[in-house]
Amino acid sequence: MKEVKVGIIGFGTVGAGVAENLLLNKEVIAKRTGVNVTLTRIADLDITTDRGIAVPEGILTTDASVAIKECDIIVELVGGTTIAKKFILDAINAGKCVVTANKALLALHGKEIFDAAEKKGVDVYYEASVAGGIPIIKALREGLVSNRINRICGIMNGTCNYIITRMEREGADFNSVLADAQKLGYAEANPSLDIDGFDTAHKTAILAALAYGEWFGLDPVSIEGIRDLALDDIRYADELGYRIKLLATIKNNDGNVQFSVAPTLVAKNTLLANISEVFNGVLVDGDTVGQTLFYGRGAGRAATASAVVADITDVAINLAGGTVRRIPAFREGKLYDKVLAADEITSRYYLRFEVQDCPGVIASITRLLADRDISISSMIQDEAKGKNGNVPLVILTHEAPAKALKSALAEVATLSINQSPVKVMRIEDL
Ligand code: HSE
Repeated sequence: MKEVKVGIIGFGTVGAGVAENLLLNKEVIAKRTGVNVTLTRIADLDITTDRGIAVPEGILTTDASVAIKECDIIVELVGGTTIAKKFILDAINAGKCVVTANKALLALHGKEIFDAAEKKGVDVYYEASVAGGIPIIKALREGLVSNRINRICGIMNGTCNYIITRMEREGADFNSVLADAQKLGYAEANPSLDIDGFDTAHKTAILAALAYGEWFGLDPVSIEGIRDLALDDIRYADELGYRIKLLATIKNNDGNVQFSVAPTLVAKNTLLANISEVFNGVLVDGDTVGQTLFYGRGAGRAATASAVVADITDVAINLAGGTVRRIPAFREGKLYDKVLAADEITSRYYLRFEVQDCPGVIASITRLLADRDISISSMIQDEAKGKNGNVPLVILTHEAPAKALKSALAEVATLSINQSPVKVMRIEDL
C-alpha cells in the first residue's frame, strides 16, 4: 500500500482534532482509500502543552519548514492571513499539496494561492473553510458541477444563529444573549468577526468563487451583521410569518450576480428558517438539479476535523494514483456577466417606521412608495406598542429596486410624521 505523509502546521483545537482523527481512524482511511495516510509531523511554536492526545514519539517540531520538507501534504491550521499565507506558499513552491481551513486567507488571497498552485501543479483543498463539517465545497465542485448556480443562500455562522435562536425563543435582547454565549464559550471574547458578518462574508466570497469562477474578494460583498438586530423586528417578522437569519445570499439573475450578508427574513415554513441553534445550512439552487439543502455543524473541533481529513484523503488518493489536479479545487473561468453593486439589486423588503399616529400618515408613506412603483405585500400598525403619540408601522414590499426604495426612504426622512430612522431588511423568498 502506498504511503502518503501528512504534516500539520498549527496544533490548536482543530489541529489536535485532525491529528486525533488521523491516528484513530488510520485503518478506516486505509481500507476505504487503499492509501496509508501517515501523520508524520506536527509543527507548532508550542509543543509542550498537553492537547489530550498521544502523538507518536518525535513527530512534534517547532519548525514548520521541517514539516514542509518531510511531508507530501501540508495541512495549514494556523489561521490568520500573514504567516499562514507564507506557510501555504512555501509548501506550494516546494511542490507540496495543501489542505487548509483558512477562510479569511482564501477570501482575501485566493487568486494568488490558486495561481501558485496551478503553476506548481499541486492540489489546494479547503473543505473546512466553509460551513465546517458540511461538505458544501465538494458538492459544488463535483456533485453539482454541471449546474449553473442560480442562487446560494446560507446560514453559515453558528454563533449568530445561536444568538438569534435564543433571542427568538426567550425574548432576550441581543446584548444579554451575546454575553451568555461568551460565557458558554460559543462566542469569542472579541465577537466582531462573527456578529458583524465578516466570518460569513469570507465564506460567501469562497462559495461565490466556486459558483462563478473568479476570486471576487470581499469588495463586492455587502456586509451587515446582527449587532443592531432588535427583538421588535424578530417579533414583527414572526407575526408576518417569517424568521430572521443572518443570511449569505449569492444570486445570479441573467448573468448579473450579487453577493450579500445581512439579517434577512425567510418564511417560517421553509427548511432554512428552521435551522436553529449553532447549526449551519446552505441551500444551493442549480439550473438542472433545482434546490438542494446541506445541513450540519459549521464549527467545532470534530466537525472541522472531519472536513479537513476528508480533504487529506482526497489529496492522498490523488498523490498515490498520480492524479493530482484531476479535480481542480478551484479553476478560473468566468461564469457571469456583471457584479451588481448594492444599489443595483432588486429585492423584497421589510420596513419598520416609527411614525406619528395621526390622520394621513400611512397615506403619505404609501404614496411615496407607490410613486416609485413599490408595491406593499403586508402591513402592521402596532397600536399596543404606541407611546407619546408615536406608533411602529411595519411594511413588507414586493420585489423593488434598491435605488427606488432608497429614494422613497430619503423622502420619508424629510416628513415631520417620521420619528426615527427606518429599519430596513431584505426578504428572501425560498
Ligand atoms: N465562528 C464561526 C461560527 C465558525 O460561529 O460559526 C468558524 O467559521
